Amino acid sequence: MAGEEIKDTVKEKYRQAALRVAGGERGSCGGTDSCGCDPVSSNLYAPAETAKLPEGAVLASLGCGNPTALAELHQGEVVLDLGSGGGIDVLLSAKRVGQTGKAYGLDMTDEMLALARENQRKAGVSNVEFLKGEIERIPLPDASVDVIISNCVINLSADKRQVLREAFRVLKPGGRFAVSDVVVRGDIPAAVRRSMELWVGCVAGALEEQEYQRLLAEAGFTEVGVEPTRIYEFADARSVLSGAGLDAEVLARDVGGRIMGAFVRARKPLG
Ligand SMILES: C[S@@+](CC[C@H](N)C(=O)[O-])C[C@H]1O[C@@H](n2cnc3c(N)ncnc32)[C@H](O)[C@@H]1O
Repeated sequence: MAGEEIKDTVKEKYRQAALRVAGGERGSCGGTDSCGCDPVSSNLYAPAETAKLPEGAVLASLGCGNPTALAELHQGEVVLDLGSGGGIDVLLSAKRVGQTGKAYGLDMTDEMLALARENQRKAGVSNVEFLKGEIERIPLPDASVDVIISNCVINLSADKRQVLREAFRVLKPGGRFAVSDVVVRGDIPAAVRRSMELWVGCVAGALEEQEYQRLLAEAGFTEVGVEPTRIYEFADARSVLSGAGLDAEVLARDVGGRIMGAFVRARKPLG
């Protein structure tokens, strides 16, 4: 799969998800055609966290974790969400960093950006800005961000090394990388890796956990860690694989317990 083909397919799938939400539906769960299908995205946020958010931001949630719950965020900090979708994690971050801070969302899909900006308007928050662009070429200056968050997006990129390099570039010295992502443990079958349906569903493109740590270290990060937050066992794996035109029953036996939602953390050294 060529990089541009992957990007176009991903964009189209998330364009459709955004349009479903704009029409009042949930953005997730169109077969395997988007990250966010149960068991990946159900019950990620506590009701108290989402109670004050616009409904559209909650319906559009397509993540696989809750990075703002696990990230350290302080008043006055600048946060950047890579692949911000309908904006749920940007709006949650904006509350945490307060009026003296700022939360940026970055997304390449126009329809997702329109949804996110509408959600910002409904939430009435001013310390938020949604930027159009690609996570492989972040449209922000060097050393301008305190914390990078992301929720189930880096696995979708065809050039993860470049995404991590860009994350390192825009972080300030001492800045934190605090990302939820789908990660695999060990090898997964080639048939799963080759499936475009499973790529846009956040599975086929997922990095192996040791490889993730290696790429972060190669980009310059220290204090690297990968902590599983949800491990997809056989039944979950079968549900994620079904609909991709593969023998889910058989493959799920190979991948059950080896695909997980994880919190990936790292730091840009102070020096
Ligand atoms: C799985 S959804 C996650 C959205 C959001 N983080 C959430 O938790 O609801 C992936 C989002 O990332 C965006 N995206 C995927 N690849 C991207 C890339 N290379 N550059 C910028 N945005 C990207 C898609 O447009 C989509 O909105």
